[in-house]
Formats: sequence, structure tokens, C-alpha cells
Amino acid sequence: MKSLRVFAPATVANLSCGFDVLGCCLENVGDEMQISLSAEAGVRITKIEGADLPMATDKNVAGVAVIAMLAALNDTKTGVDIEIYKKIKAGSGIGSSAASSAGAVWAVNELLSRPFTNAQLVKFAMEGERLASGNAHADNVAPALLGGFTLVRSYAPLDVLKLHTPKDLFMTIIHPQIEVKTADSRRVVKPTVALKKAVTQWGNLGGFIAGLYTNDYDLIGRSLEDVIIEPMRSILIPEFENVKSTALENGALGAGISGSGPSIFALSKGKTTAEKVAKAIEKVYQPTGIIFDIHVAGINANGVTMVS
Ligand code: HSE
Repeated sequence: MKSLRVFAPATVANLSCGFDVLGCCLENVGDEMQISLSAEAGVRITKIEGADLPMATDKNVAGVAVIAMLAALNDTKTGVDIEIYKKIKAGSGIGSSAASSAGAVWAVNELLSRPFTNAQLVKFAMEGERLASGNAHADNVAPALLGGFTLVRSYAPLDVLKLHTPKDLFMTIIHPQIEVKTADSRRVVKPTVALKKAVTQWGNLGGFIAGLYTNDYDLIGRSLEDVIIEPMRSILIPEFENVKSTALENGALGAGISGSGPSIFALSKGKTTAEKVAKAIEKVYQPTGIIFDIHVAGINANGVTMVS
């Protein structure tokens, strides 16, 4: 095999209670990439469609992720050409940079007959996140590579777990087309947390994960609470409180900021409810005059996959 085409999925990070540690992978929403081995050593970005992103390998998240991977193999001979067909908009909050870096390392790993497990690929894809946001967070790249819901149990040493996914969970995502750069959105987050808030947050994180494993949708819903980050970041997102309360009134289990925003997610039990939520929040956004996209998506159990 010398070339392959992959689907690189969108992801929702944080999920309210798990800043920088929790994330999940979406079905149907994502980019495509064509990755080819070349006789000429080195990593090149040969084509980008759908976005204005850097072609220079060391400035492109997919490029730096693959460079990190080949360096770990002490491989100076392999040549890689990367074509990126972007559908996820940069700065949308649904893991645009993560999709590119995860898709690239996953495909190169396949082409090299899998020297790494998908979990081992996370640290290389994180180099793309370091370039994109100044911080090598793993809560988008982990679900993009492993699929389903994932937890970063520890960053040092890196310990990433794939969690159980109840079968009836569906996401509604509204993406207002204002750009909120992750780097800027991280700057508004204060570095210290009051103990009382930390207690609330880790209670919710534990509750959310217990809910996933027991298929307890109500527990999942009441754990979707963010007393730390959301109050600081939600002011950057027009109509955030309105969208959130409308989603809850229309049956969503919970709602919050997707990653660093500006997208807002609502998690529901069943596709019918997720679609009802989509219609209701669409009505909230229409009068604002801000252009927006809405996606309804199941949870993608596989992560990056080959496109036949
Ligand atoms: N955990 C990261 C953040 C996710 O909130 O900054 C960015 O998508």
C-alpha cells in the first residue's frame, strides 16, 4: 500500500466537566485526507482544499505531527505527501486541527504497517495541537484516534483511556461562524481554581464516566455541568445561555461549550430529541444575523478510518 484516503473526524472536547481530559468523536462530520508514501524523503503538504492553512510542513499541524512520529522511529528515509480536504472550519471548536494531525499520523502508521498502536499515536498528534494553540492538549486528538469517549487520565506520563459509549447518545452542535482561536480562548481561563469548584467539577467528571458505563442517561445529564471554565468562556459566544436553556427545555440531557468554542454542543438521548434540539436552537440563532451551521451526529466508535 503506497497511498490511502482517510476520514478524519470532528470531536467535542471538555464536555463541560472534563476540561482538557474528556472528549468524544463524531460520526459523519469531518475532513478527508489523502496520504501517500513518496520516494523522496521528508514530509510535504502537497494540497489543501477548503481552508487557507499553511503549506509549509513545519507550520502545518499535520506536518509537525508526522515529523514527530518519524523522529520517534529514527526514520530519515520515509517520504510522505499529505493532501488535506478540509470540511471542519478552523477555530470552530470541534477539533479542526486535531482532525488533521490525527488523520495524518493514523494514515502514515497504516502505510508503515503499524509500528504504533492508536493510543501511542496520541502523543504525536498532540504536537499538532501544540502548534495550533500553544498547548499540547490531547482531549480532541485522543477521541479522533481512538473513537468513542476518551479520558486523558494523566499527561505526565501520558495515559489515555477509551471509555464505554452508551448506544443512544446523539450530539447537536451549533457552530456560529465567528472565529474563536483556542489560544485566545485559553488565555481567558484563570490558572487557579477554588477548591469548592474543583470538588464540584471532579464529582461531575466521575458522575459522567459512571453514567457512560451504566448507560444512565440521567446521570450523564446531571453531570454535564461546568462551574470553572464555562463562566469565563461563555461570554465570547453570542446567545450562549439562550442556546443552552433552549436545548435543555427541548429535552437535551445537557449542553455546554464544545472545546474552546464558539460551537455549542447539546447531548441527547435519541436522534429524534437531538433533531428537535437542533430545530429549537436554530430559531434562537436566526435573529442574530450570524451565519451558523448545525450538525446532528451520533458518536463515532472508530475514530479515523480508511475511506474506500
Ligand atoms: N481542552 C481544550 C480547550 C480543547 O478547552 O482549550 C480545545 O478544543
